[in-house]
Amino acid sequence: MNSGATHFLRKFKPGSPAIIALFIQFATLGFITLLLFVLWQTAHVKWTLNQALLSHAVLTLLMTRWFRLAWWWCLIQPLFPFAMVLALWWSLPPYVYLSLFLFLLVFYWSTYRTQVPYFPSTPDAWRAVDQLLPQNRSISFMDIGSGMGGLVIYLADQRPDCRFTGVEIAPLPWLCSYLRKGGQSGNARFLRSNYEQTDFSEFDVIFAYLSPAAMSGLWRKAKNEMRAGSILISYEFPVDGVEEDLSIYPENYTRNQRKLFVWYL
Ligand SMILES: C[S@@+](CC[C@H](N)C(=O)[O-])C[C@H]1O[C@@H](n2cnc3c(N)ncnc32)[C@H](O)[C@@H]1O
Repeated sequence: MNSGATHFLRKFKPGSPAIIALFIQFATLGFITLLLFVLWQTAHVKWTLNQALLSHAVLTLLMTRWFRLAWWWCLIQPLFPFAMVLALWWSLPPYVYLSLFLFLLVFYWSTYRTQVPYFPSTPDAWRAVDQLLPQNRSISFMDIGSGMGGLVIYLADQRPDCRFTGVEIAPLPWLCSYLRKGGQSGNARFLRSNYEQTDFSEFDVIFAYLSPAAMSGLWRKAKNEMRAGSILISYEFPVDGVEEDLSIYPENYTRNQRKLFVWYL
């Protein structure tokens, strides 16, 4: 890979493939527009809309490969120029786009950076996590990235003797969890915060359902901050190169089985 692209990747990765994808879209759009302008000015050559769109899509695909984004970016990136023309053709009122943008903003917030979107764990997983909690003493538990709060609310009902905290960075899921619990009541609370800025040493058990991109950073933070005797649980995603102490399949499905990975620190 050329040194410019390498430098760019070093600067932005691993946090932001979405920003690289956006950069590619703007760069190719700028290049195609300039090319059309120069062709028209110098040779009076005019492209049709289809020719321009196709060139934009092919160039976008090549750049996406060149920047070595994940394979699925190669599938969706060339579609954006066509989607843009389709959106113009529909002529929807601007408030539709603004509303959609604002909804996605408060729902996903910084997913473009964290690479951890919202998707919920299952009640089977919640029951299995409940079984993993120490039974003979009161503990303090945190779900990092608590989404709509399902796990924390379930566990708080099962274990009134323990304290449960959900930390969620995105405003809308956090608000849903906060309202579901009726504010900061009982033994469950929901904080709108970045878990990277919370102190893991205050908790006996930490649960994570994040994404492969977050796991090595999470492991480093857990090793540095969690107390001896505490427990880290990850649903679906292992830590590369770190053997778990225990793994279980909480669901009874025959396909798409997801594991709970457990480390006793
Ligand atoms: C896969 S969902 C898991 C939801 C919930 N824990 C569950 O089991 O149903 C991951 C959640 O983590 C949140 N998240 C991602 N990065 C975060 C961060 N740095 N701090 C707090 N929350 C984060 C996302 O907004 C998303 O709601």
